[in-house]
Amino acid sequence: MESPFKETILKGKVALLTGGGSGIGFEISTQFGRHGASIAIMGRRQNILDAAVDSLRSQGIPAIGLVGDVRKREDAARVLESTIKHYGRLDILVNAAAGNFLVAAEDLSPNGFRTVIDIDSVGTFTMCHEALKYLKKGEQGKGPARGGTILNISATLHYTASWYQIHVAAAKAAVDSITRSLALEWGTDYDIRVNGIAPGPIGGTPGMSKLAPEEMKGQFKESIPLYKLGEKWDIAMAALYLASDAGKYVNGTTLIVDGGIWLSRPRHIAKETVKELSRAVELRSRTSPTGLPTSKL
Ligand code: HXC
Repeated sequence: MESPFKETILKGKVALLTGGGSGIGFEISTQFGRHGASIAIMGRRQNILDAAVDSLRSQGIPAIGLVGDVRKREDAARVLESTIKHYGRLDILVNAAAGNFLVAAEDLSPNGFRTVIDIDSVGTFTMCHEALKYLKKGEQGKGPARGGTILNISATLHYTASWYQIHVAAAKAAVDSITRSLALEWGTDYDIRVNGIAPGPIGGTPGMSKLAPEEMKGQFKESIPLYKLGEKWDIAMAALYLASDAGKYVNGTTLIVDGGIWLSRPRHIAKETVKELSRAVELRSRTSPTGLPTSKL
């Protein structure tokens, strides 16, 4: 689908994306590149990075792939140094690396819980922490010193409670909290905007194939009235808005991009029944202020 944004909105910017070689991260890499940014992607698997970089370069987008695990501070530092060495600056950091699997809480080992917290929450903080010194310098020497921006990919499953996702819900709750705290501290001190995106179910992602295998899809439609898959493009457009000057007054927000699914509840009464019931209750309460039949008072 065609982008509604101008092709130059990220012109001259350098973006580093963790998990930027696949799924939502790769779509953001691609769209950032198509809108003028130079791209560095960080991931654990060389073959995935190579394929992603080839695809970006074939579209004329400057791109490099850097192997690293966000759980290792030394990897984070090295990847950031390599990005600066290659491009000379950093303007945008996107934390899209995440770990997930479906598991009942009683079957999840503390190490399994810790693994996802380490990737999603600690990994996000580590990358932000290591990137700060470069983001602070983002536009120095070119007009007033202004900081870069950070985007943290989150989820909606911790807004209520989600089955078999205790580890990820806890991890993403921490991510949202990190987003707000850094928005406050770094927004004030360095003019660095920090925001998040909470995607709903997005088709063609590793997350969907893990959390909603093909054979379960019919059940979702029945139990979640608003259920409709989003596209990776939807998330990338939200990322463009937040990372570009279109979002220059947005700081500390996690933008939900899920078609309203997190609000979804099965309809418990038919619309026609509501009309009838509502009138009847209204009428009763006029006869008696308590709504109870007057004979019971
Ligand atoms: C129960 C499991 C498990 C499973 C792993 N573990 N898989 N427990 N059920 N299916 C436990 C292991 O037993 C171990 O605990 C601990 O987790 C670490 O497992 P490892 O395999 O050693 O970890 P590692 O090789 O580092 O792999 C991390 C991973 C893996 C998270 C388990 O799936 C991964 O690398 N994922 C990255 C890609 C990914 O998941 N992408 C999808 C993101 S989707 P013990 O106690 O045995 O040592 C997404 C969407 C979120 O984030 C929002 C959705 C709405």
